[in-house]
Amino acid sequence: MSSAELAEPTELRDEPAEPWVDDPYGRALRTGRGPLFLRRSDGWLLPLDVERWCAEPDAADTALLDRCRGPVLDIGCGPGRLVVALPRHGLSALGVDVSPAAVARTRDAGGPALRRSVFDRLPAEGRWGTALLVDGNIGIGGDPHALLTRVRALVAPGGRLLAEAAAHDVDERLTVRVQDARGRHGREFPWARLGPAALVRTGAVTGWTPADQWTVDGRTFIELQADAGSSWSVAPGEGAAAGPQEPPQGVPGHGEGGDGAEGDQQVPSVVQGQDGGVGPGPWA
Ligand SMILES: C[S@@+](CC[C@H](N)C(=O)[O-])C[C@H]1O[C@@H](n2cnc3c(N)ncnc32)[C@H](O)[C@@H]1O
Repeated sequence: MSSAELAEPTELRDEPAEPWVDDPYGRALRTGRGPLFLRRSDGWLLPLDVERWCAEPDAADTALLDRCRGPVLDIGCGPGRLVVALPRHGLSALGVDVSPAAVARTRDAGGPALRRSVFDRLPAEGRWGTALLVDGNIGIGGDPHALLTRVRALVAPGGRLLAEAAAHDVDERLTVRVQDARGRHGREFPWARLGPAALVRTGAVTGWTPADQWTVDGRTFIELQADAGSSWSVAPGEGAAAGPQEPPQGVPGHGEGGDGAEGDQQVPSVVQGQDGGVGPGPWA
């Protein structure tokens, strides 16, 4: 057994225990294997599809990729299958994720990624053509209103959000922890699950208009278009000037910490200039 394996937590630790960092998620991403779950306080288990996330994009992913306009920000990119695939669709992309293992795996696969929270300062705020919240990531922070407001400030005027919804019409705030099949887990954190109706409803009060909804292989997606209204519009660069947003309670900011290799200027230049006519790359 390696020292990394020995270092994995075997039970709830008080501090420090950042969700997705000090829990079995990192091990699962390094091996590419589950089983892994989000476990609700009452014991209910939501499986995390680690094998699919670590594989090539499937039919549902490909349908999603076909709808992207660059540049694309994949929020909570995990091991980066979409970030890696997007340049093959002629689009530049950046993944952001709080998990060092996710960022490392994305980079190893050739995709650009930053270890940062979506609520931290990000490159090209207000200039992204498409933001992605896939694989349940509408749950990030446990406050969908705060998340959709934040994402609205990240996309360009006329930009879009492609978000995966829960299969059923749920609108749920929950407290979960990441847990593996042996019961090893990190600390609890806030999460949310939104079905299509709740996603559209929350989008409507945070500056988004529904543009489309579709289902592939049992996975349901919503396309939201950024409202043109002045109260929501963020001119290019304005979001960045405004700086990072306060994360919802219980969500750690990760700033420049972590693996220490992700200053904005290091967002790879290899993906610049491939956006199919959107103009200069987002990091120009
Ligand atoms: C349900 S998993 C989805 C994984 C992913 N979409 C994939 O393709 O593998 C949630 C992901 O969001 C990341 N995450 C959680 N909170 C975050 C935050 N505040 N900002 C950015 N990423 C976050 C986690 O580290 C994890 O990789």
